Amino acid sequence: MKRTIINPFKPTAGAEPPVLIGRERVIDDFRDGIEEGVGAPGRLMRITGPRGSGKTALLTELGDIAKSYGWHVVDVTAAGSIVDAVQHELARTSGNTEVHLEASLGVVKAGVSKSSTGPETLRGVLTSVASQETQHGAGLLVTVDEIQDADADDVRLIAAAVQHLIRERKNIAFVFAGLTMGVMDLINGRALTFLQRAKAEELASIPLSDVSDSMASTVEGAGLHLNGKVLEMTACATRGYAYLVQLVGYRVFANARKHADRDVSISLEDARKGIEEAYGEFEGSVLDVALADLPLRAIEYLIVMAKHEGNVPTKEIAAELSLPPASLTATRRQLIKAQVIDAPSRGVVRFSIPLLREYLLKSSSEILSRY
Ligand SMILES: Nc1ncnc2c1ncn2[C@@H]1O[C@H](COP(=O)(O)OP(=O)(O)OP(=O)(O)O)[C@@H](O)[C@H]1O
Ligand SMILES: [Mg+2]
Repeated sequence: MKRTIINPFKPTAGAEPPVLIGRERVIDDFRDGIEEGVGAPGRLMRITGPRGSGKTALLTELGDIAKSYGWHVVDVTAAGSIVDAVQHELARTSGNTEVHLEASLGVVKAGVSKSSTGPETLRGVLTSVASQETQHGAGLLVTVDEIQDADADDVRLIAAAVQHLIRERKNIAFVFAGLTMGVMDLINGRALTFLQRAKAEELASIPLSDVSDSMASTVEGAGLHLNGKVLEMTACATRGYAYLVQLVGYRVFANARKHADRDVSISLEDARKGIEEAYGEFEGSVLDVALADLPLRAIEYLIVMAKHEGNVPTKEIAAELSLPPASLTATRRQLIKAQVIDAPSRGVVRFSIPLLREYLLKSSSEILSRY
């Protein structure tokens, strides 16, 4: 019987990719953290990066690693109160009735008056679970995704509880992830010094040689061939950006699969067409979304920026817009906060999202017509 060829790529937010490319070091650091015991730096981590850089996928992987050591893992995403969410998850996943009761009670009470019952209950529940796990030679990992959206007081409560448990020599790990600027703003705010010391992992682009090796073996494992010039072109098109690896891989593979009964090699035409389709989708699902909430002034700023390659002096942008540089400070700040651009050094900016520059150059009049 003919084997069904299944597309191995996963171009969906949060979906586990076939291979987590380029994360070996951070995974090793985390593993070391678990093995080395209380106080190891790998037990407190901050993962930052732009949309689609692979933060959620990495959190999932770290959670799986912790589970493989028998640890209890609680994952929450910041939307509403993360204190409630952590308590709720601990209650849901804990077999211990005491913890269960305490936590559910806390959640109910917290809904009414968080400030009076939240802190003690949270610390109590975390302590119960972490102590119990530590007694059994395991530990507790708490992960918080999209932490830039969390309430700073909630983050402070969790940080204080985690710090306390470390002092009590319990096996606890805390890993949080979010958009770079939002996370930096959060932890540089009031008294979150404990979290500033977290091991920092910024998810920059993945080296193309790693992308290329991984795509070739992923495709091979799924029954098609990708090599030579076609492989090079496909890997290059991803810009080393996690989400594009999946999107481009998925589309290129889908085109080749159509002729797999005749030829299992991915052709240059399959790749060309797949890349074009993937880019079209990327414009809709990432670039337009990133631009959607921006005011006209910010869009004009970006369009001027796009005319330059690489790092762009902010003075030049102001000059081209015929505006005093100081009048653009708020706009620049807004764009950095939205993680559309970043400032690699003083007085210069660059695009943070791949393909945005090309898109702005190609479609500026269409984008402007939306205003
Ligand atoms: N290291 C990786 N190698 C290959 N693909 C990856 C990697 N990390 C993530 N991906 C893929 O990239 C896409 C985006 O990943 P993910 O949702 O984890 O990003 P994110 O940073 O959490 O994005 P967002 O900020 O939108 O939540 C998914 O399709 C995922 O499968
Ligand atoms: Mg995510």
